[in-house]
Amino acid sequence: MIERTLVLLKPDTVQRCFMGEIISRFEKAGFKIVGCKMVWIDKDFSKQHYEEHVEKDFYPGLENMITDGPVLAMVLEGVDAIENVRKMVGATEPKASAPGTIRGDYAHISYGHADENKIGVKNLIHASDIPENAKKEVSLWFTEKELHSYKTVHDAHILE
Ligand code: RTP
Ligand code: MG
Repeated sequence: MIERTLVLLKPDTVQRCFMGEIISRFEKAGFKIVGCKMVWIDKDFSKQHYEEHVEKDFYPGLENMITDGPVLAMVLEGVDAIENVRKMVGATEPKASAPGTIRGDYAHISYGHADENKIGVKNLIHASDIPENAKKEVSLWFTEKELHSYKTVHDAHILE
């Protein structure tokens, strides 16, 4: 099924000047970027985006991290995009994420280290986890007018 999913390149990625490297992986895998913009969110917006985590112990560190600078927000479209993009992103804790995944290749911090130092787990990227959240997150971050339907050469390979 062709799906849309929200991807955020978090402030650590932007500050490491690493956006192109990660965008390139998704382009090479054939995903279509149907929306893209840079946004510096505030604490209120963070609470909306990470609604499910607001009451958790790690939330203050997460909020500091996600509001520390601009993020690059994208909507990617492709076959089973939600599951496929999460597969490319890797496990939440960089220490545990497999080589070959974005978090596994470009980060290594552990939960233990982050918690001990009261910092957020800098893991480069957010991607929607399930269809219900993808729908909610895409409409939280993007208006209909900011999303574009167009053809790429990959369409010739995945559609008849
Ligand atoms: P994301 O929502 O950012 O794509 O990450 P995720 O689904 O892989 O992980 P999730 O459980 O939704 O957690 C959201 C973000 O919170 C930080 N976190 N810190 N110290 C901790 O125990 C802890 N647990 C999660 C991470 O930055 C994670 O990406
Ligand atoms: Mg999540």
